[in-house]
Amino acid sequence: MATSAESAVNRRHASFMPPMELDFGSETPLYRQISVWFQRAILAGHLQPGQRVPSTRALAKELRISRIPVLGAYELLIAEGYFQPFVGAGTCVSQAIPDATFRPGRGGLASAVAIEPESTARRTISRRVSDMAGPAQAWLERCRGCTDLEHFPIGVWSKLVNRHARKISPKIMGYGDPMGYAPFREAIAEYLGAFRAVKCDPSQILITTGAQQGLLISALTVLDPNDGAWIEEPGYPAAYQALRAAGAQLVPIPVDREGLDVERGIQMGRRARAAFVTPSHQFPLGVTMSASRRIELLSWAAREGAWIIEDDYDSEYRFGGNPIASLQGLDTDGRVIYLGTLTKVMFPALRLGFLVVPKDLVGSFLNVRNANDTFSTSVLYQMAMTDFIREGHFSRHIKRMRAVYMERRKALAAAIRAQADGLLEVIGEDAGLHVVTLLPPGINDVEVVTKARQLGLRVNTLSECYARSPARGGLMLGYAYANSDAQKMGSTVEALNAIISTHMAKHRSISVA
Ligand SMILES: Cc1ncc(COP(=O)(O)O)c(C=O)c1O
Repeated sequence: MATSAESAVNRRHASFMPPMELDFGSETPLYRQISVWFQRAILAGHLQPGQRVPSTRALAKELRISRIPVLGAYELLIAEGYFQPFVGAGTCVSQAIPDATFRPGRGGLASAVAIEPESTARRTISRRVSDMAGPAQAWLERCRGCTDLEHFPIGVWSKLVNRHARKISPKIMGYGDPMGYAPFREAIAEYLGAFRAVKCDPSQILITTGAQQGLLISALTVLDPNDGAWIEEPGYPAAYQALRAAGAQLVPIPVDREGLDVERGIQMGRRARAAFVTPSHQFPLGVTMSASRRIELLSWAAREGAWIIEDDYDSEYRFGGNPIASLQGLDTDGRVIYLGTLTKVMFPALRLGFLVVPKDLVGSFLNVRNANDTFSTSVLYQMAMTDFIREGHFSRHIKRMRAVYMERRKALAAAIRAQADGLLEVIGEDAGLHVVTLLPPGINDVEVVTKARQLGLRVNTLSECYARSPARGGLMLGYAYANSDAQKMGSTVEALNAIISTHMAKHRSISVA
């Protein structure tokens, strides 16, 4: 019996139906071919419960056959419970087919039709895949939060996106410029010139879907497989992944209070073709590369014909002293590829980042970008972002967030001084979105973090940022996630203090025994 349209539960649109092909030479009657086709499509999950199917008239017309076999097939499918008719509202895939049967991997109907390899032939994939394995996303989420969106001006942003979405023009619906939306590139070039002392013009700006894509494009452009690449140790694990994806041999170079130790780099891998660095605010330690190290690094690159990839991921958040100029701004030999992202100042899902490419490499970078995705990130967001910058919302938002994060950082540092002095040694500048603290020698940071997470604390190990075993464990304490207000810092540090003290007592009793 037909169900009334009002009582219909959550019906879906006819939207996408895979094409149906009939075999007119077959002995199987057409109504049977049609009904079997629908059964298979439903069981394979190509048609979902509640999804509208075409009317018998429309399907007959599309298949160029009479309506009779289609009516016959629909009657059969209704009788068998695959279809459910709605008075005055067409026919849908039945809701009565239990949801669980559609979930793959539960022994349901979908798993019954999933393809399992039949042959024993090898299923070889590239060696690159295991090189690319790493913590990336989950780690970033867990780590320190990326930005506190509670303070993001969502109303303003929505208005700007709507402004452009409402009057979307065919001009922005094509592929467009693979370097990115020109007015956005102009705005970024101005911003970088004014606030980061980057020397560039808009023709050098290549818009990416974030720093990660920028890194991969850079690595693929300047490195051949097996080329050596310096990385900071400790450093940014997602950068290791991108460099390995390009086939680079990573050469971990120690970082001290002045940033990457260039002299050690030269001893360990003089002939490297590239160096990945975070000079403004080293990730994760938070130190700033000294002026003398910057000069040494630039001279090495110029002498050896190497490239420097400068990741300037969070320099908007400096809470004391003067802003640090970019390494790119000091470069006189066009050796620095500057990498920026809006992940930290806007939000991660925006997926907007940019590269400042040496002028003579722009064509080569474009080749790699085209092989990668042909086009930059959504023009709609680039347009909205251009307005966000030009209308002053960007600088207002940065100013507001700087105050929010500065308060949290101060509260965290004060709590550590008051409650964990001697247990947690803070390192790094007054900047960024997390604090790194070293643990007392011999204390394993994995054990401390495991315990801390059981208590719901958002803490990461420092050892995860090392390519080799670190001499000393440490903690990364983030304060950029929602609800991590300054008042909570005391209780966080108190809990950490208790965990570390217990570990130290255990450690002592083991060494005495
Ligand atoms: C050192 C570093 N670089 C870059 C990024 C941002 O990456 P993306 O723009 O791909 O989100 C992060 C994010 O946490 C980071 O820590």
